[in-house]
Amino acid sequence: MQSVVELVPSILSADFAQLGAEAKAALAGGGTVLHLDIMDGHFVPNITIGPPVVASLRKAVPNVPFDCHLMIENPDEFIPAFAEAGADWISVHQEACIHLDRTLHLIASHRCRSGVVLNPATPVSLLEDVLDIVHHVLIMSVNPGFGAQQFIRNSLRKIEELARIRESRGLAFRIEIDGGVALDTVGDIVRAGAELLVAGNAVFSHGDARGNARKLLQAARDASLIRA
Ligand code: DX5
Ligand code: ZN
Repeated sequence: MQSVVELVPSILSADFAQLGAEAKAALAGGGTVLHLDIMDGHFVPNITIGPPVVASLRKAVPNVPFDCHLMIENPDEFIPAFAEAGADWISVHQEACIHLDRTLHLIASHRCRSGVVLNPATPVSLLEDVLDIVHHVLIMSVNPGFGAQQFIRNSLRKIEELARIRESRGLAFRIEIDGGVALDTVGDIVRAGAELLVAGNAVFSHGDARGNARKLLQAARDASLIRA
């Protein structure tokens, strides 16, 4: 049986000068996990935030899981600092990890839930040997680095494939999607089997983050009823 869909607002598209208030608005609209995009200007062509900002936001938003999506080279060097800053979930890119199994165990050793992320061009088959040790698999439905990009529909097939593998192997990882999640795509995404819906642009770029979050979550829930 699949778990209920959850909205995971991504602060990448929020007003960084009002980060606490923006996060709280999206959570008031139904978001249950907060997605923090960590970019280093090397693994992806953009730079965002580091552990000090995560720690500040943790004080403003104490009771919601922080889902830290590391789009960085050498993630092992920074995992302890993000855990210390208040991350609850930490995900790393398969493409950035030479010793992926070691990195996932490192995350767990810091009492965080471990996740693994796939770029649009990376096949699900490369995760075969870690699916039994991860809390979540994050499928990128855009090339990582920026918000507000167009949804790549091939990701739907990858979600379906993951859901099939999970069922056949009796595993428990959750399926998350990131990039281009919006009112016009969320139905197909949920019907394909994604449960954790990361959304930045759709929540934060059109005023009223609370109202936007609420509408998107409602659309996701409606689609999940049809799926069931
Ligand atoms: C992109 C980030 C996403 C981003 C999604 O590299 O990982 O989390 O916020 O953006 P939207 O929802 O704007 O497509
Ligand atoms: Zn992300």
